[in-house]
Amino acid sequence: MHDCHNETRKAETPELKLVSSITEMQEIRQSFCKSKSIGFVPTMGYLHQGHLSLVEASTRACEITIVSIFVNPMQFGAGEDLGTYPRDLERDIELLSAYDVDYVFYPDAKEMYPAGFGTKVEIPALSTGLCGASRPGHFTGVATVVLKLVNITRPTQMFMGIKDFQQTAVLRAMLKDLNLQTEIIACPIVREPDGLALSSRNVYLDAVQRVQALCLHNAIKLIQALYADGITDSNQLIDGATDLISEAGGQVDYIQIVDSTSLTELPTANDNCRIVLAVFIGRTRLIDNAAIRA
Ligand code: PAF
Repeated sequence: MHDCHNETRKAETPELKLVSSITEMQEIRQSFCKSKSIGFVPTMGYLHQGHLSLVEASTRACEITIVSIFVNPMQFGAGEDLGTYPRDLERDIELLSAYDVDYVFYPDAKEMYPAGFGTKVEIPALSTGLCGASRPGHFTGVATVVLKLVNITRPTQMFMGIKDFQQTAVLRAMLKDLNLQTEIIACPIVREPDGLALSSRNVYLDAVQRVQALCLHNAIKLIQALYADGITDSNQLIDGATDLISEAGGQVDYIQIVDSTSLTELPTANDNCRIVLAVFIGRTRLIDNAAIRA
């Protein structure tokens, strides 16, 4: 039995520990005192400053931080980039060593999804529009893997980037609906100095596309400026942004003004709205979002 009063955090976990076995991760979690705050940062690796900002937030807020690295096959559709998704575990571990991370959990796909695996977590009300419309099944894959990871690590807090706005809404609903005792801490988007939101997929962009990719942030800024000028008609707000994206060489997948909680598209914008968009730059699909009131 642990004596929670006398143990210091570092005495319990002297350095970053790598864990690939699900059972081992569960046993480690089991060994923590009940009162410990456990921060969890789920990732698919190829870490960038956006992920590291989540790691930093977790290490600041929680006594123990677990980062998972798992490229989840279940959330990729046929013809998507599962095979080419950037991976570099060694580099990720090196980056994480600079932070106060306690555990890196990197399970194997065969252990996560053994033969006969058939459970699916569906949150249709929030999953079928926006990114879900062009990526059917994506959020089922995300919700299923995150439920598994949360069950294995049982965190008190899970740190998520608000860049994946719909994903955060889906997972918040799942945690609430299933009475899981994990709170989502949504952290701000980290951007390059010129405004491009950080994404592991930015590595796919060549020099020309890297410039074109700025159209996502510029479209957001245009809508925010028009709204600040008093325009609230969503079609009018979106039309200008759509033109801007086309002229920059992007191809709009969707651009919508939605209620921040329900993600419902609204014909008239109000201060609780979110601008959400997905744009193809060449074959790379990028997403971004922001509050309509800058
Ligand atoms: O946002 C991601 O990187 C993934 O969707 C997540 C949450 C790690 C689940 O695989």
